[in-house]
Amino acid sequence: MTAAQITQASARRLPDFDLVLFGGTGDLAMRKLLPALFRRYLAGQFPARARILGIGRTNIERDEYLALVEENSRKYLPAGLDATRWTAFSRLLDYLQLDATSAADYSRLGARLAAQPLPLRVFFLSTAPALFTHVCRNLAAASLVTPEARIVLEKPLGQDRGSAADINEQVGALFPERQIYRIDHYLGKEAVQNLLALRFGNALFEPLWRRGRIRHVQITVSEQLGVEGRGAFYDQTGALRDMVQNHLLQLLCIMAMEPPAVDHPDAVRDEKLKVLRALRPLEGPTVASHVVRGQYRAGAVGGTPVVGYLEEQNVPPESTTETFVALKAHIDSWRWAGVPFYLRTGKRLQEQVGEIVVYFEDVPYPIFETATSVNTANRLVISLQPRDSITLTLLAKTPGENMRLRPVELRLDMPETARASQLDAYERLLSDVIKGRLTLFMRRDELDAAWRWIDPIRDAWAQSDERPRGYTAGSWGPAAASALIARDNCTWNGEV
Ligand code: BG6
Repeated sequence: MTAAQITQASARRLPDFDLVLFGGTGDLAMRKLLPALFRRYLAGQFPARARILGIGRTNIERDEYLALVEENSRKYLPAGLDATRWTAFSRLLDYLQLDATSAADYSRLGARLAAQPLPLRVFFLSTAPALFTHVCRNLAAASLVTPEARIVLEKPLGQDRGSAADINEQVGALFPERQIYRIDHYLGKEAVQNLLALRFGNALFEPLWRRGRIRHVQITVSEQLGVEGRGAFYDQTGALRDMVQNHLLQLLCIMAMEPPAVDHPDAVRDEKLKVLRALRPLEGPTVASHVVRGQYRAGAVGGTPVVGYLEEQNVPPESTTETFVALKAHIDSWRWAGVPFYLRTGKRLQEQVGEIVVYFEDVPYPIFETATSVNTANRLVISLQPRDSITLTLLAKTPGENMRLRPVELRLDMPETARASQLDAYERLLSDVIKGRLTLFMRRDELDAAWRWIDPIRDAWAQSDERPRGYTAGSWGPAAASALIARDNCTWNGEV
């Protein structure tokens, strides 16, 4: 996307703001947040007065920080940097060295903000969660928490229900819920917005969106990447907490929720919460029959040899952390009773895929001939990545004399021209924070309900002496994941 195209895609201007970025020299800031802000700047969305203040422990000057941001943005912005626009943008950037745990340091932050006071302050915490409470307390003690201040919390939001509750309790004591933005970047993805539009902007699918019409649903987020130098973090986390507790469950909520009465943050979040609360618990012996955990061994991904998880840097050689999870879930509600939801995610898998696949029921009795190899069910694939698209598979007649059916794809993609104005997930979410739109952020009770469902799975693993099942890097995961779904006469989309 060129700068000119982004400019054409100009959106509503944001109000004046100060964005204070804790973790300002970190990976997320460099890879996603600062490039996203630059793109919003190019889109003409920045107000007359805006300031982005990177905060870090590293003792560097502003110039050095700007150079670091520029070098990384060049790397992570596919269209590269327009030098003139970059120079103008970088005037809005500043840096402050600060120890997040030291209350005394916050007076310097206060002084920096007071130099050009702007009413809207956003504190983005892209730090280890252990620092969340320190930062919030110190901000409050330095009188920096105003009624117009917003706090953005990046995942991981806790390690389990108890630690998440502690964070929520302590942050909640200083910021009211309406000022807290818990990010799940999957909710900012274009395909998720499109799924909402498809479901709630059209009457067409609603009568079909239920038991009796839908046979089962698959949600897959597979990555070719490994732990990418994050071995120490990942080993304490694992795929269940890193991906399922947040991203996959949020996708499940958007897929399965009832239509909200209005487009209001709480109306949407109330409906998502109901889905989470209706998830049938997976606990005790059910975990062994409904959940598969795996760990990658050495193999090749996209033709390149890669090491196994246990050989990754900062991973203990006897680690039992899972890099893959597949599970079968049920939502105990009138709409979804009896419809299995299969969830699957993993690292070092064959392809990078993010998709929700809805399998509709077959005709009650086939009167036409279909090739036996054809999976006859109508299918709706909402693809998040590598490219977002929506495809409906139907059966149509094969040209020729005979009445023989074959699958055809009806693509509901947006035109290429419209793609140019698409926002990256973080662009959308950062703009939403500044505009004060909470819909795409998780509410405290949602987070709690997600952990409440996840914890018993981990407890069952902790009590079992089984190791995660090995799978070769570059495959589709352990054979047990295919067996999990094959027991119900299904296969994972894309797997033959
Ligand atoms: C992050 C996880 O939340 O999501 C990473 O911590 C994962 O492990 C990433 O790689 C995937 O996000 P995306 O947008 O690249 O699919």
